[in-house]
Amino acid sequence: MVICTILAFFSLFSKSMAAARERTFIMVKPDGVQRGLVGKIIKKFEAKGFKLVAMKFMWASEDHLKKHYSDLSARPFFPGLVKYMASGPVVPMVWEGLNVVKTGRQMLGATDPKDSAPGTIRGDLCIQVGRNIIHGSDSVESAQKEIDLWFEPKEVIAWRPAAEAWVYED
Ligand code: RTP
Ligand code: MG
Repeated sequence: MVICTILAFFSLFSKSMAAARERTFIMVKPDGVQRGLVGKIIKKFEAKGFKLVAMKFMWASEDHLKKHYSDLSARPFFPGLVKYMASGPVVPMVWEGLNVVKTGRQMLGATDPKDSAPGTIRGDLCIQVGRNIIHGSDSVESAQKEIDLWFEPKEVIAWRPAAEAWVYED
């Protein structure tokens, strides 16, 4: 009985910690970089309590961006999207935390800033869908694919923030 209780406790504990290790791929697009919004965007994710586990500053090639947005290759805006994304440096990042994929998308706001709620990143900081400053993964599966496309495994850092016990109750 005692052993069962201990096992149940550890299984609950490990489930909640596994959920807290969900990861999403977030990227400041070239317009976000050019407009000096990188710090503001990072601050929102940091202040929320999510953990930064990878980040770089790079100028992506059109080939790389075609892979990143391959699901949209049949859409009429695809060539313009690739040109826009390759027009300057970007800041790809990986953020980790409980429900970070869904919450990250909510923090970004709707794809078209005219529909993004005030208080969201797109709702507050941009106007047109073709200049919507930030990308965020739309599912846990696409997050994993995107992280693998943009980062080497060794570039994603496992670490424990000092404030973790003040962000999560278990
Ligand atoms: P993202 O992948 O960049 O986070 O954006 P999203 O999921 O909110 O939207 P998605 O459908 O994946 O579209 C990717 C990006 O393509 C551009 N777009 N332009 N002109 C248009 O109608 C149009 N629709 C989408 C946007 O930059 C969008 O973020
Ligand atoms: Mg998308």
